[in-house]
Amino acid sequence: MIARIAVLGGDGIGPEVVREGAAVLLAVAAKGGHRFELTEALVGGAAIDSTGQPLPEATLALCRSSDAILFGAIGGPKWGPSAPVRPEQGLLALRRELGLFANLRPVTVNPRLAAASPLKAELLAGVDLLVVRELTGGIYFGEKTRTATSASDLCSYSAGEIERVVRVAGKLALGRRKKITSVDKANVLETSRLWREVAERVVKAEFPDCQLEHQLVDSCAMQLVRRPADFDVLVTENMFGDILTDEASVLAGSIGLLPSASLGAGGNGLYEPIHGSAPDIAGRGIANPYGTIMSVAMLLRHSLGLEAEAAAVERAVNAAVAECVLTPDLGGTATTGEAGAAVVRALERASPTP
Ligand code: IPM
Ligand code: MG
Repeated sequence: MIARIAVLGGDGIGPEVVREGAAVLLAVAAKGGHRFELTEALVGGAAIDSTGQPLPEATLALCRSSDAILFGAIGGPKWGPSAPVRPEQGLLALRRELGLFANLRPVTVNPRLAAASPLKAELLAGVDLLVVRELTGGIYFGEKTRTATSASDLCSYSAGEIERVVRVAGKLALGRRKKITSVDKANVLETSRLWREVAERVVKAEFPDCQLEHQLVDSCAMQLVRRPADFDVLVTENMFGDILTDEASVLAGSIGLLPSASLGAGGNGLYEPIHGSAPDIAGRGIANPYGTIMSVAMLLRHSLGLEAEAAAVERAVNAAVAECVLTPDLGGTATTGEAGAAVVRALERASPTP
C-alpha cells in the first residue's frame, strides 16, 4: 500500500523518539512491500521559533492531506505558561482542526517490566486497560477569561460530543472484555451529570452486551492503583482523561512506554506517545522510544488497516524488552538509538507478515 505520513517531532525529546518511530515505519514498509512517504514538519516551540506560530499553515495543510500523523512531544521551559504564544496551542489546534475527538490510551503491563513500577507486582498481574479520553471538548476548549485578579475556564459538553466518544468506547469494548467504566464528577458538575445520562443511554441502546459502571473521578484515581486489573475500557472527559492516564502510566513502569491514538470521524489519525517533551533529558539520547514505536503500531492498525504489521511491531518491542534493551527510565543503559535499532532488528528477523 502507499501511505502519506506526516512526521511532527516537536520539541525536547520529541524529535529523538520520532526518529526511531520513523525508522520502524520504514522497516515495516520494506518488509511488507509498502510505500510510506514520510514528510517532516514543524510544530510547537520549534515552529514558534521559526514562524511565530505553534501550528503553521503549512503543517496543518500537510496533516490534512496525510493518511496519518506521527507526533513526538511539544513544550519546554523556553515557552513557559505565561508566554503569549505557547507550544501546547499547536497540539490543541491540531486536535480541534482535524476533529480528533477520541484519544485511545491503552495500558498494559509487560511482566518483565513489573519491577520498574513502584506498585507491588501482584497488583499489576493481568492489567490490560484502555482509556478513551474525549479530546476536543470540555474545559480545554471552553471560553477563557482573565483579569489581573480573576480567571475562568468554561467547561461545556453537548450530548452529541459525549455520544460519539462513548460510541467509540463501546465499539472497542466489544472487542475486549465488554466492561465500560464511565468516569465523571456527577456529584458536583453539571457537565458530568449530562455525561452520565448520555453514557447510560448510549450503552443501553447500542451496546447491550457491555456492562457499564460509573465511577467518580476521585475514587477512580484511587481504584486505578488499588485494583487496576479490574478495569477494561474507561471513557471520560478531556481533563479527567489527561490526569488519569499519567497516573495509569505508572502501572506500566514508565510513562515512556505508553502510546496513544487520536481519532476522528475520518481515518486520518494522530499518533503520539503520552509522555511530554522531557526537557531535562532532551539531547542526551536516552529517551525511551518504545511509547512512540507502540504508537506506530496503533497508526498501522487504526489509520492504515495493517493489523498484521501492527501486531508484528508490538511483538518486536516485546522482543527488544526481552533482550533487556532498556533505556534508563526502565533501569537499563540503552540509548534511544539502540532501543529503536533493537526493535528494527526484531522486526527484520520475524517471519514475513502476511
Ligand atoms: C497530553 C498532554 C497535552 C494535554 C498537553 C501537552 C497540551 O498533556 O496529551 O496528555 O493536556 O492534552
Ligand atoms: Mg497529559
